[in-house]
Amino acid sequence: MSTEREKQLAAETAAELVEDGMLVGLGTGSTVAYLLPVLAARNLDLRCVATSVATAATARELGLRVESFAGVDALPRLDVAIDGADQVAASGWLVKGGGAAHTREKAVAAAADRFVVIVSSDKLVDRLSPPVPLELLEFGLAGTLRRLGTAQLRDVPRSPDGGVIADFTGELDDPAELAERLSATVGVVEHGLVPAEMVSTLVVARGEQVEIRSLR
Ligand code: A5P
Repeated sequence: MSTEREKQLAAETAAELVEDGMLVGLGTGSTVAYLLPVLAARNLDLRCVATSVATAATARELGLRVESFAGVDALPRLDVAIDGADQVAASGWLVKGGGAAHTREKAVAAAADRFVVIVSSDKLVDRLSPPVPLELLEFGLAGTLRRLGTAQLRDVPRSPDGGVIADFTGELDDPAELAERLSATVGVVEHGLVPAEMVSTLVVARGEQVEIRSLR
């Protein structure tokens, strides 16, 4: 069974969790790319926000109503956010940001009552491993990189918020400890570690089977 088919099945299952009238956060990546047309085809009355410029453009092309999530007049809360992940540990912790969208993805997930993570079975790991995506402030960048010690700049465009994309490549023995350290490092705008407590539902496709796991 191909990974692409598993992504499609996970996405289709998650699309069914969305109900008419909901405020919906749309993630970023190749798994979410399967979600958008299925969600649009349901013709529900939805108000959506997107975690990337690419997702916003695709969703709008498909007829979904996508609103800005910037500023004080944007939606302060969402009913559900649906997004992929690069790694899902047995503990429920995630690594996100392979597509460099982790800052906006975490902002959208944090605003949602329910955060649904959709993955193919190859994303499941016993323990998370580096790299951990980072978004860094340009100002003071050299000092931030020195304080991080083991981080490499990624050769990709800036984030839509002007952040520099990098990867932390050091030890990842304890995700909670590393997340705390990265969050406390001045110059780190956001990192790609997501605690299990943020994840409501994990939708994992393995072959033709889809498992819906509730984490909270
Ligand atoms: C984007 O920055 C990422 O966090 C994606 O959500 C994650 O990389 C999953 O992407 P795929 O669905 O393409 O594997």
